[in-house]
Amino acid sequence: MGKALDGVRILDFTHVQSGPTCTQLLAWFGADVIKVERSGEGDITRGQLRDIPDVDSLYFTMLNHNKRSVTLDTKSEQGKRVLEKLVKHCDVLVENFAPGALDRMGFTWERIQELNPRMIVASVKGFGPGPYEDCKVYENVAQCAGGSASTTGFDDGPPLVTGAQIGDSGTGLHLALGIVAALYQRKTTGRGQKVLAAMQDGVLNLCRVKLRDQQRLARTHVMKEYPQYPGKFGSAVPRAGNASGGGQPGIIVKCKGWETDPNSYLYFIAQAPVWKAICNVIGKEAWITDPNFATPDARLPRLKEVFAAVEHWTLTKTKFEAMELLNQHDIPCGPILSMEELAAEPSLRATGTVVEVDHPTRGKYLSVGNPIKMSDSPTEVRRSPLLGEHTDEVLAELGLGQSEIHALRAQRVI
Ligand code: COA
Repeated sequence: MGKALDGVRILDFTHVQSGPTCTQLLAWFGADVIKVERSGEGDITRGQLRDIPDVDSLYFTMLNHNKRSVTLDTKSEQGKRVLEKLVKHCDVLVENFAPGALDRMGFTWERIQELNPRMIVASVKGFGPGPYEDCKVYENVAQCAGGSASTTGFDDGPPLVTGAQIGDSGTGLHLALGIVAALYQRKTTGRGQKVLAAMQDGVLNLCRVKLRDQQRLARTHVMKEYPQYPGKFGSAVPRAGNASGGGQPGIIVKCKGWETDPNSYLYFIAQAPVWKAICNVIGKEAWITDPNFATPDARLPRLKEVFAAVEHWTLTKTKFEAMELLNQHDIPCGPILSMEELAAEPSLRATGTVVEVDHPTRGKYLSVGNPIKMSDSPTEVRRSPLLGEHTDEVLAELGLGQSEIHALRAQRVI
């Protein structure tokens, strides 16, 4: 069966996490992704957080599936000539170097356009144009600069970063969308274009509801669904702990076994349409008609009392027992699943969201497969390439003969 991006060639100049997330998705959609790496070490993540000596790390293998790897010294004159051929050969160049690195290499937007006017040049940078545009940025910097950290955590504690890689993987996702849109537009214009996804912008986009709340706060000075209510609010959106971001109040409650299992918790949502069912399940039937609890507005200043009663009930159940019982009444809730539980979850294996991959030097390992499922473009997750595994193959496709390839190798260009 064909794939959505069959025939699209990507010059993948990405490293670490944000850019590789993007090009991995494109590869899963069928693009031919040619990863260009420095000879010797390659993408720095190959050697980072290694669990097996001298074997590509999980950091690398889990972000570079379905790609081909070419080693090339793109700062040498011969390397630049090969890179020019690659620019002419490919549809999209994706990079997440520090600001200015591509220009310093001699591959400015203008130069790339001269070589291939159809080329789409897609970049992840830490910040968009402005005072910080020259800064190098990593995940947690983006979380802090994009509004996530100031709105995550508890009111009486410091700002917190989240485990979800919204700065790196989140921005990679944004960039992938920009690239497919640019490929679509190119069908009518015949031209490439620049696509930029800044990590600060990507994080702020994912924190959109908090900018919504900033404006509500400025107008009304309180936000009734926040745990601070009915107390005092400052001028900026406060950290809301585990309170639900939407109009339906929610919280994390303890379940049976929480004393020894750090993940024996459940997210519980006191959704208004099922209030009667909630009262029945937790044994608070009187609250169905009690004017202090019967309506969502009446409950807002009493949410602590409501959730204490819910927890009193959940403490008698495991998170899975509680979920099963609550689901029988359509009460929205979710168990706090550990990575250990997710790795073993059969339904995620069945859909290919968690896959086992075989690697020649590492052996079998688990990875997250393509979270986007397409009926006409199924994903087969193939292992990440070894460093330079496809150098000869790709150079031959560019028209280089065996003797030229040998000469480049002798001069350590590849
Ligand atoms: N051959 C020769 N040189 C190469 C090369 C190759 N194949 N590939 C890369 N290089 C060079 C670059 O040209 C650059 O050289 P220069 O600084 O002399 O211009 C150099 O390697 C290092 O690249 P850089 O991107 O600066 O790496 P770094 O390790 O110093 O910084 C980041 C890493 C992630 C902080 C930085 O790349 C960055 O801010 N990227 C944008 C934001 C981003 O994606 N951050 C999240 C990462 S998950």
